[in-house]
Amino acid sequence: MANSQTLNWTVSANPAPKSKSERDAILATPGFGVYFTDHMVGIDWSKSDGWHNARVEPYGPLSLDPATAVLHYAQEIFEGMKAYRHADNSIWTFRPQANAARMQRSAVRLALPELPEADFIESLRRLISADADWVPSAPETSLYLRPFMFARESFLGVRASEDVAYYVIGSPAGAYFKSGVAPVSIWLSTKYARAGKGGTGAAKTGGNYASSLVAQAEAYENGCQQVVFLDSSEGKYLEELGGMNIVLVYSDGHIVTPDSDSILQGVTRDSILQLAEDRGHKVERRHITIDEWRDGVASGDIVEMFACGTAAVVTPIAQLKAADFTIGSADAKAGALTMELREQLTDIQYGRTEDKHGWLTRLDA
Ligand code: COI
Repeated sequence: MANSQTLNWTVSANPAPKSKSERDAILATPGFGVYFTDHMVGIDWSKSDGWHNARVEPYGPLSLDPATAVLHYAQEIFEGMKAYRHADNSIWTFRPQANAARMQRSAVRLALPELPEADFIESLRRLISADADWVPSAPETSLYLRPFMFARESFLGVRASEDVAYYVIGSPAGAYFKSGVAPVSIWLSTKYARAGKGGTGAAKTGGNYASSLVAQAEAYENGCQQVVFLDSSEGKYLEELGGMNIVLVYSDGHIVTPDSDSILQGVTRDSILQLAEDRGHKVERRHITIDEWRDGVASGDIVEMFACGTAAVVTPIAQLKAADFTIGSADAKAGALTMELREQLTDIQYGRTEDKHGWLTRLDA
């Protein structure tokens, strides 16, 4: 896949951007995924012309034919990233090459075209050049960037779309969970699976999230903020949460995260595990049974557990609730290593410490 930049860009400014006071009010309490910036980026793809018509345009509704393929067959992928404002006002993002590569892998799985890495990163820069004022500066806030791509052809036959749209939108973000970084409760889904062997579990595609929603609703009914899925064949091995990966910490300091070809290869997870390895922790990516988790917490062998993802960053897990057992307790405190890794990661992202791995890319210059 060619990774050089191929596109010419046009910019059309929003004639009615939000006023400074409207924007400041939003940035003061952004929540997650509720507000959007003044512009968006679009790039078109067609089978005959490849990628073309790269543009920055006013944020606004898309007009789609009711027969648009994505509305029927869910041929869609997306990414999640953040733009961070540093103390000197510069704006950076974190490992965009990893997101570009994952989006290419997702594209291959969903029979969508691969966007070259350089065009992907340029699309982020272009959004920031139009909407830099939307990157908040309060601690632990950011501009969440949501690149996505979908089948736009108006055609009801089931085959890969020959007309595809790529967009990037930006949404000022605080904590993903209403409770902030307070430890969350997780519901064990035994009735539903998220993804199956040979399916789309490793791709970042809307269908995986759609299939998590009924189980997520069950989690809410049981007083939990997230749901965890087990493998679909045996219902035995941990996979991932509805919208993030999971990591367990053992009393001897080693760290384990589920390995499977049906879970998302999280960029945050990979980074946290690298930071843990840098600190001398042994890291294992392997199958973990639900029994290992339950027995490990009961025996004191597993001492911390956390969720991680771009949106969630690192969020401690207080307890796992299932229909017939509970692991941990709702008032469990956040683990010390969990919080240290969280701080180390965010210190890098916000430019408060040295970026030893070269993970940051500047977006505003
Ligand atoms: C992310 O962490 O960026 C995600 O995509 C999770 C999500 C909010 C679906």
